[in-house]
Amino acid sequence: MSKIEVKICMGTTCFVMGASHLQELVEILPAKYPDTVDVMGVPCLDLCSNESKYTNAPYVKINDEIISDATTEKVLKHIERLLEDGQE
Ligand code: FES
Repeated sequence: MSKIEVKICMGTTCFVMGASHLQELVEILPAKYPDTVDVMGVPCLDLCSNESKYTNAPYVKINDEIISDATTEKVLKHIERLLEDGQE
């Protein structure tokens, strides 16, 4: 099973809209899922450039799926669902 890749957008818009709180995932995820999840902060995912979308920041990308209005709880739930479904 390949690892679940979690990319937390650390661009300015997402950071201002709450991504700073998501940094706790960098510690939580490896502790909770040491062999199944890779987590990293990434530069702007380029989703905030569209004015209608920037209000949905912060963004987190889990594998190929974009999570908008991301919170720690939302990300954890999504990962749990992926693990239950065998990632697909
Ligand atoms: S700052 Fe996050 S998508 Fe641009």
